[in-house]
Amino acid sequence: MAAPRRPAEGYRCVGCGAVVPAGAHPFACPARGAGGDVEHALERVGADVGATWSAAWEPNPFMRWRELTWAYRFGRLNGLSETELRRIFLDLDRAVAKVDGHGFRQTPFGPTKALAERLGGAELWVKDDTGNVGGSHKARHLMGVALYLEVAGLLGLDDGQRPLAIASCGNAALAAAVVARAAERPLAVFIPTDADPAVVERLEALGADVRVCPREDGVPGDPCYHAFQAAVRAGALPFCVQGPDCAVTLDGGETIAWEMAEVLEKAGGAALDRVYVQVGGGAFATSVVHGFERAKALGAIAQVPRLIAVQTAGCWPLPRAWERVTAEAFRRLEREAPSDPRERAEALLAEPAAVEAALEHARAHRSAYMAPWETPPHSVAHGILDDETYDWYALVRGMLRTGGWPVVVEDDAIIEATGLARKALKVNASHTGAAGLAGALVDLAQHPASGERVAVVLSGVAR
Ligand SMILES: Cc1ncc(COP(=O)(O)O)c(C=O)c1O
Ligand SMILES: [Zn+2]
Repeated sequence: MAAPRRPAEGYRCVGCGAVVPAGAHPFACPARGAGGDVEHALERVGADVGATWSAAWEPNPFMRWRELTWAYRFGRLNGLSETELRRIFLDLDRAVAKVDGHGFRQTPFGPTKALAERLGGAELWVKDDTGNVGGSHKARHLMGVALYLEVAGLLGLDDGQRPLAIASCGNAALAAAVVARAAERPLAVFIPTDADPAVVERLEALGADVRVCPREDGVPGDPCYHAFQAAVRAGALPFCVQGPDCAVTLDGGETIAWEMAEVLEKAGGAALDRVYVQVGGGAFATSVVHGFERAKALGAIAQVPRLIAVQTAGCWPLPRAWERVTAEAFRRLEREAPSDPRERAEALLAEPAAVEAALEHARAHRSAYMAPWETPPHSVAHGILDDETYDWYALVRGMLRTGGWPVVVEDDAIIEATGLARKALKVNASHTGAAGLAGALVDLAQHPASGERVAVVLSGVAR
């Protein structure tokens, strides 16, 4: 089969190269589900062609960087005017504000002198997304999807009637319910049996159709995710935060990195050396790294920080996948892989051909790298206990490109970091939202970054 041509702009599968046909939504790869062991995940390509980093300040990040979003580009490519698109972006933000009390506003980011004694000479920068719509960064992803659907609707590609579906027990479900309500679309939410009753109550108040999914003995993977996939097969639209199911979800998530990039730019072009991000399904960290990469391509920042992905000792499929891909690269180099992750990452920065070969192998042999965590995962950071890191491929590649590595943290460290976030940083983050800070504190003790700037994202409010 001849490889499909790379489109100038649009979505293309990292695994099989399929491009999204005209008129189809950029959600899952059209070849996904056809069997085999290829990683199917669509990625936006050509996003920087003709794009510019607008200098016009806007408090709403979706308005501020609208020209970089797929919703806007797609509308423009299909003949919608700036006025029509502005209206869509402003109207949906206003509707979100009606549902949640406020719309999207850039959230705080800056350096702090707090915790200096724990940082080994590194300078800590904190992004606080706990005040975002729905109390976490998740609404960024879903706003990007909802804006795309509004544009698709205006172009006659979506009748607005198909229900939306998401699997989640917390922040993503709340965010989806707020944005779906604002967009006046029905939403089914698949939740586990142990979902927080307060969250369920809020979901129901927002009009979501809540469906509880018990785990079944002997069936690997998340039952909520399976039920969500079945709903999508039955015609629902994936209104979710997993890139392989809904590639356009990665788009809105980039706003968080653009906001950080702009602050760095205004601070005289301050370079960020590392960003520590808590990882569950992986869409968030994928958007962070893509967002920084685009900000660099468009000249806003000079350097993409190393991505340090943080998971818990209760469930760490991503560090496992990174270990396997890096081991494959060293196997090809016929060299022993250093056991220290930073040494591994550093050594591989100088070996792009071996890295590309290992990534190619990983794309074609998914199950050898990423599989559902074998035991039911437990951690106080329950928002990042996804059995599988769905966006693993983009993240392993992102760590390899940036020279970053993964960190696994114990619950004690997460509990401590949550306390420090509240007391020292004055941010009321949840355990999940503070897990990246825990990773930073643990990792900086092992891999000091004296004189460097490191960032953490406190991404979810304590409820
Ligand atoms: C507060 C918070 N931070 C980070 C994450 C991780 O995001 P992702 O699942 O996209 O990796 C989640 C949710 O999963 C979350 O709720
Ligand atoms: Zn594919």
